[in-house]
Amino acid sequence: MKFKDKVFIITGATSGMGRSIATEFSGEGAACVLSGRNAERGTSLADELTGKGGKAIFLAGDVGLEEINKRLVETALQNFGKLDGVITNAGMLGLGKVTDLESDVWQETFQTNVYSVFYLLKHAIPEMQKNGSGRVIVNASIAAFKSFPNHPAYCASKAAAVSLAKQIASDYGPEIRVNAICPGPVDTPFLHDSAIAFPDPEKAVAEAGEKTLLKRLGKPDDIAKLVAFLAGDESSWITGSSYIIDGGTLTAG
Ligand SMILES: NC(=O)c1ccc[n+]([C@@H]2O[C@H](COP(=O)([O-])OP(=O)(O)OC[C@H]3O[C@@H](n4cnc5c(N)ncnc54)[C@H](O)[C@@H]3O)[C@@H](O)[C@H]2O)c1
Repeated sequence: MKFKDKVFIITGATSGMGRSIATEFSGEGAACVLSGRNAERGTSLADELTGKGGKAIFLAGDVGLEEINKRLVETALQNFGKLDGVITNAGMLGLGKVTDLESDVWQETFQTNVYSVFYLLKHAIPEMQKNGSGRVIVNASIAAFKSFPNHPAYCASKAAAVSLAKQIASDYGPEIRVNAICPGPVDTPFLHDSAIAFPDPEKAVAEAGEKTLLKRLGKPDDIAKLVAFLAGDESSWITGSSYIIDGGTLTAG
């Protein structure tokens, strides 16, 4: 029970990696404040974790808005009395070439992928400082380092998220450790949505797995294990880093 008596906020918890991270953390004893847009799925996950003896609360809302992020922190304090860590995992694609992209899609992508990190940490860091320690993991993407067709807003916003994580690590250490993770293709609804940007989406998903050195897509649980490592005491000398977890996609080229 590595997270016994620890309290975490996990955004984008209703699906994919966020759901796996929530399940992993709850299984390790964490009290979890879960966020996402789908209230039915979020409430059902919170009930499932509670049914297994965990502590979990779901709050629906758009993480691109400051108010929901503030409420997530308040919810942690009101229900569990403190805050030990934050996993900023919610993300959106905002597909379209620069010449086709409406500026409101560009704006929404940055709101969801970058402003959300700023807003949540702005409210979460002072509370974690009260405990003398805090763990932050920002879910970015290998898109921070590699271009994908029709993904300009996504690539740029994920690069910004990596940079922001590093910068915040330098302002709030040594008490608060902040790291980014950069997954490659992970088998979630999001991956299948991103494949729409390729001429043959089904082929693109199949090839994404085949092109890794490990010859498969990532599983949400692969990512949850890395996040748990970075949020736990075993990683106590790691901050300001970005961890590529991509089955060797970037190395394969
Ligand atoms: N799947 C991949 O191949 C892949 C690769 C690299 C990085 N990522 C990143 O991983 C993260 C999780 O994605 P996933 O693949 O598990 O996708 P997913 O579609 O399964 O889950 C995305 C989650 O984010 C939430 N979300 C999206 N926009 C939101 C908003 N504005 N407000 C609140 N919640 C919002 C959704 O409700 C959902 O819970 C994202 O940040 C994504 O960019 C995904």
